[in-house]
Amino acid sequence: MACQRGQPSQRGLAMPWPYRLRCFNCHTQHPTQTTHYQCYKCGGLLEIIFQISPRKIPWKGRGLSVWKYRELLPVDNDRFITTLAEGGTGLHHCPRLGREMDLKRLYVKNEGENPTGSFKDRGMTVALSKARELRKRRVVCASTGNTAASLAAYSARAGLQCMVIVPRGKIAAGKMLQVMIHGATIFQVSGDFDEAMSAVATLTERRKGFHLMNSINPFRLEGQKTLAYEVCDQLNGESPDAIVLPVGNGGNISAIWKGFGEFQTLGVTKATPRMIAVQAQRAAPIAKAVRRKQDRVQPVTNPQTIASAIRIGTPVNSTKVLQAIKESRGTAETVSDKQILEAQRDLASKEGIFVEPASAASIAGLRRSRETGFIDRSDLVVCVTTGHGLKDPSIAGHIPHHEIYTLKITHPDWIERLERIL
Ligand code: F0G
Repeated sequence: MACQRGQPSQRGLAMPWPYRLRCFNCHTQHPTQTTHYQCYKCGGLLEIIFQISPRKIPWKGRGLSVWKYRELLPVDNDRFITTLAEGGTGLHHCPRLGREMDLKRLYVKNEGENPTGSFKDRGMTVALSKARELRKRRVVCASTGNTAASLAAYSARAGLQCMVIVPRGKIAAGKMLQVMIHGATIFQVSGDFDEAMSAVATLTERRKGFHLMNSINPFRLEGQKTLAYEVCDQLNGESPDAIVLPVGNGGNISAIWKGFGEFQTLGVTKATPRMIAVQAQRAAPIAKAVRRKQDRVQPVTNPQTIASAIRIGTPVNSTKVLQAIKESRGTAETVSDKQILEAQRDLASKEGIFVEPASAASIAGLRRSRETGFIDRSDLVVCVTTGHGLKDPSIAGHIPHHEIYTLKITHPDWIERLERIL
């Protein structure tokens, strides 16, 4: 049978290279089988460190997918791998949109092409496989929608019990539908994502049976870093000059930055890109800290934006994000809801790619970076569009009036009438 994306046929090929789990802040080592994702010494975030040195890479010839890079994914036993064929998403050259911004080499890495329609699946296949390896039966997350949809799907696939905590009335309809059809138990809290996240943190702290699947789970970020590997492979070993992506909790930007670093250490690529974080104007704690050159992020209370996926005031991965932006010599941009909606329409109508509002923020943010001159016309830029447009039908009221003509096909000149309208 033909080899598919994320194909189980690629499994059984290899074992992960040696890796450790350590504190991102104080570098204290933690057992890799731990299920507690905060440093017991300083409370810092944890990270996986692979032992990497330049060597012959073993994955040439394998199809593009998350599990193509099996050696750099920290699941020890193939038996526990749960996959729905994630990764292998398109890297689309966008000449029409690029021309408007005077950019020849504009690409969109469209993560909406993943099984549940968002980049979360990259992380979920790895974190859920790890949870099974750790013999966990009950998984939980807080979410603005996509994490919940992805976790619900992978839990269904593996037969685990899934529970999600979401802010009441603030989840896009398509995402809610996904969570329900996959059979997860849904709890809603009043407030924002930040309140839901705090509830999950307390719950998993107090009850060991609930396994935390938010992006402070470092195994999730290991799956998400494969986006960087794929982009390098799709560009035949070239690294982009800049990556532009929407940022909420900051897990994805940190993971992607880690991935580029690992490919450089391995000798696959020579350079690494500048990381550009895009946030909505009224939900921009990270952009504020970057602008003020602060090394700590101040929470934003009552964040607001039409891009519900990134309506987050207290980003849980803030220390990792600030480091990624600083190390990569990147920046952060803020964009208005109006600019987000315009970018969403432009990407759909000029390049055929329909993404949810949060994802369109990357295009709007790139426009800002072109205006400020942070991105040069000769740069090779990759915008990451993180989730599919069909997830959030609420934007329908914001698209310009679109005439739908009634066709009376019983009328003898209906074809002439149709032609007259065109
Ligand atoms: N884009 C989309 C479509 C998202 O769903 C998210 C996060 C982000 C961007 C930001 O990614 O948090 O890694 O910086 N969604 C989370 C969720 C919060 O619950 O689905 P990040």
